Amino acid sequence: MNVVNSAYPDLSFTSEVERNTSHLYEKVRKVIPEIEWPVYAPLIHRINQLKAQKNAVILGHNYMTPEIFHCVADMTGDSLALARSASKTDADIIVMGGVHFMAETAKLLNPTKKVLIPDTGAGCTLAESITAEDVRKLKAQYPGVPVITYVNTSAEVKAESDICCTSGNAVEIVNGLGVPRVIMLPDEYLALNTAKLVKCEVITWKGRCVVHEQFSPADIRGLRETNPGVVVLAHPECSPEVIAVADYAGSTAGMIDYVAKHRPPKVVLVTECSMSDNVAADFPELDFVKPCNLCPFMKKIELSNILWALESEQNEVHIDPAIAVRARVSVERMLNGWKPGQ
Ligand code: 13P
Ligand code: SF4
Repeated sequence: MNVVNSAYPDLSFTSEVERNTSHLYEKVRKVIPEIEWPVYAPLIHRINQLKAQKNAVILGHNYMTPEIFHCVADMTGDSLALARSASKTDADIIVMGGVHFMAETAKLLNPTKKVLIPDTGAGCTLAESITAEDVRKLKAQYPGVPVITYVNTSAEVKAESDICCTSGNAVEIVNGLGVPRVIMLPDEYLALNTAKLVKCEVITWKGRCVVHEQFSPADIRGLRETNPGVVVLAHPECSPEVIAVADYAGSTAGMIDYVAKHRPPKVVLVTECSMSDNVAADFPELDFVKPCNLCPFMKKIELSNILWALESEQNEVHIDPAIAVRARVSVERMLNGWKPGQ
């Protein structure tokens, strides 16, 4: 476990800390009880001081807990938004409030910058589900068929791919290729859900997200019975059966946009738990029903190890340059557009 250096300046809840963080507490008042604030505030205050001193930024995925998402992250969003933010920052240090593949993507787009991941155990079951060798075998089995790889993969897997996608742009990426057949990996459910929306054959892999595969259509029916009128928004990493009974399917950012646009009085986000808290903090007038599943990997990132990473500058992400040069092409093609043969 990463621990805060004991030689640290005082991390107690002083009146100075209280004064300097009170505007941040106002952002999370709805989801963080007042009694807990004295624990978070000194860490938040110190992290924000260190960011300014070191010209560092924190990228915060939508699944970060509210005290990270609303109080220390400089750029927040889904995987696509974080990749875009990473490609634009002029900070010297990037701390990833997210999982390892997101930190690798940030590093690919910023090879000369220091990218830190507060806990190296912040993995992803999708990224674990496939190796570069698996992709080489698939390419041999389906010669000439473009490989679209979800960003939830290692740099080695991205290096074997033609182009990346996220849940926010999967349909657009498939359609943009203009080919009759694609390989889409590793998330079987994302690929099957995308296949329903495109005019193209989609070859899938057997990867699953440990968080989203747990939801069932019976869960959604139960939610509707106990919460009449609830609007159900689901992530496309859920099974096609779950998506079929949801009112909307989209990336984490897509779900937030839906809430902002439609303001459903009662809503459930069928995804990771912290999402609802983060969105509820921004829309206090809406009623969020909160059955959810925790991502054990996302939850490894905490204020204490963000502070430790910023202070010590350890857990730097390194990618073999020979892999990075090829993986970067796949990510940049996603961000900038690409067609086979270009
Ligand atoms: P988004 O790109 O929708 O944020 O999803 C990332 C992720 O890991 C979902 O489980
Ligand atoms: Fe991976 Fe699922 Fe966790 Fe997202 S929620 S990081 S896809 S395990």
